[in-house]
Amino acid sequence: MKLKAVRFVGSVGGLSSSSSSFLRLPPRFFLFPHQRPRSISSSAALSSVPRLRLSSSSTTWPPTSHSHSHSHSLLPQLPLFLRPPKYAASLSDLQIWHDWAKSLAASVGSTFLDSDNGPHSSLLCRELGWLLEDALPEGTDPSSLLSQMRLGAPTDRVKLKVGIRDLYSLWRRRIEERRPFQYIVGCEHWRDLVLSVQEGVLIPRPETEILVDLVADAVVSKVNARLNDRVWADLGTGSGAIAIGIARALGSGGCRKVIATDLSSVAAQVASFNVQRYGLQDIIEVREGSWFEPLKEFQGKLTGLVSNPPYIPSMNIPGLQAEVGKHEPRLALDGGADGLDDLLHLCHGAASMLRPGGYFAFETNGERQCKFLVDYMENELKGSFLDIQVVSDFAGFQRFVTGFRQ
Ligand SMILES: C[S@@+](CC[C@H](N)C(=O)[O-])C[C@H]1O[C@@H](n2cnc3c(N)ncnc32)[C@H](O)[C@@H]1O
Repeated sequence: MKLKAVRFVGSVGGLSSSSSSFLRLPPRFFLFPHQRPRSISSSAALSSVPRLRLSSSSTTWPPTSHSHSHSHSLLPQLPLFLRPPKYAASLSDLQIWHDWAKSLAASVGSTFLDSDNGPHSSLLCRELGWLLEDALPEGTDPSSLLSQMRLGAPTDRVKLKVGIRDLYSLWRRRIEERRPFQYIVGCEHWRDLVLSVQEGVLIPRPETEILVDLVADAVVSKVNARLNDRVWADLGTGSGAIAIGIARALGSGGCRKVIATDLSSVAAQVASFNVQRYGLQDIIEVREGSWFEPLKEFQGKLTGLVSNPPYIPSMNIPGLQAEVGKHEPRLALDGGADGLDDLLHLCHGAASMLRPGGYFAFETNGERQCKFLVDYMENELKGSFLDIQVVSDFAGFQRFVTGFRQ
C-alpha cells in the first residue's frame, strides 16, 4: 500500500511569474503550506518516527555543537511538535497572542494571492491552528484550549514547546517576510515521513513522492535485474526525502545501500539528521560534494540513480512565489539558462555510472524538458539507455524521465 502523508486541500499550485512564457509551465514549486495530513495526528507521527538519540533537552543536532564551525541556527532542528514543552505562558497571554496572530493573518486577505499566487488569509488562519497545535504539549486539544481561554481563569498556565515571545516573532516572520510555514514549524509531511526542514534546504514537494513509487515499481517489475541489490544514489538529496523513501521502498530483502549526495553542507547535515531520525544510518550514507564527484568508486557499478535536480530556468526565479523565491535556496532551484544544466550532467553521469541494467529516474520541469531529455538520450547518448519513458505527476503533467542502462 502506498502511504500518502501529504494532502492538498486546495487546487494544485502553479509556478507564478510575471513572465507570460513562464505561466505556460506546468504547476510546480508552489508552496502552499496546507500540505498537512490532519489524518496523521502528532501522536501518530510521533509513534512512527524513531526517537533520536538526543538528550531530552536537546533540540539540535549534533548535540555537541560546541566544536562545530557552523552557526547555531544552521544546525538541524527537531520539528517543533517533537520538542519538549519546556516553556509556559498564562492562558490570557496565549489568548492575546492568538487574537493578534489571527488579525494579522486576516489582514492579508487576498494580497499575497493576487501578487504572486501566495496563500490567502484563510490558509494562513489554518496554519495558525497548526502552529498552535504543534506548540502545545502532546494530547492538548487546541480548540478546547481556545474555548477555555475565553471562559477560564486567565491566570491558568499552559505548557508550550516554544516561548510566547518566539511565537510572536515566528508569526510575524510568516506574514511579514513570507517565511514558509514549514520552516516555522521545522518540518514537512512527505509520504509517510515527517522530515525536518529549515532554511538552506528545499522543502520536499508532493509530486516528488512519485519518484519513490517509480523505484518501487521498477524493483518489483524487473525482479531478474535485482534492483534491490546494492548501491543506489540520490543526487541532490536536500532533506534526504528521496533517499529515505527509496531505502524503505527497496525493502529488507536485498542488500540495500543508498548514497545521498548534496553540494550544500546545510542540506547534507539536515539529510543526515533525518536519516538518523528514521534509524537508516546503516543503509543511507550522506556525502557532501557535487553530483557524481563523491561517487567515483562506483563508476559503472551503480544499481540505481534518482535525482530531483534544480531545473527552473534562471530568468524565472524572480517571478516565483515569495515563500519559494525569497526563502528556499537558489542552489536548489536554479537550473541555468534553460533549466537543463544539471539534468544534462546527470544524463551523462547515468551513462557512465550505472551498471548494465541499472535504473534511473529524474524529475524535470515539465513536458518541454522531458521531450528534450528523451531526444538527447536517444540521439546524443545513443546506445546508452533502454526503455526510456516519460511519466506524469499527480496533476497529469509530464514530469519524470526514467529508463535503464543498456
Ligand atoms: C530541487 S532540490 C531537491 C532536493 C530533494 N532531493 C527533494 O526532492 O526535495 C535540488 C538539490 O540539489 C542540490 N544541488 C544543487 N547543485 C548540486 C550539485 N552540483 N551537486 C549536488 N547537489 C546539488 C541542492 O542543494 C538541492 O538540495
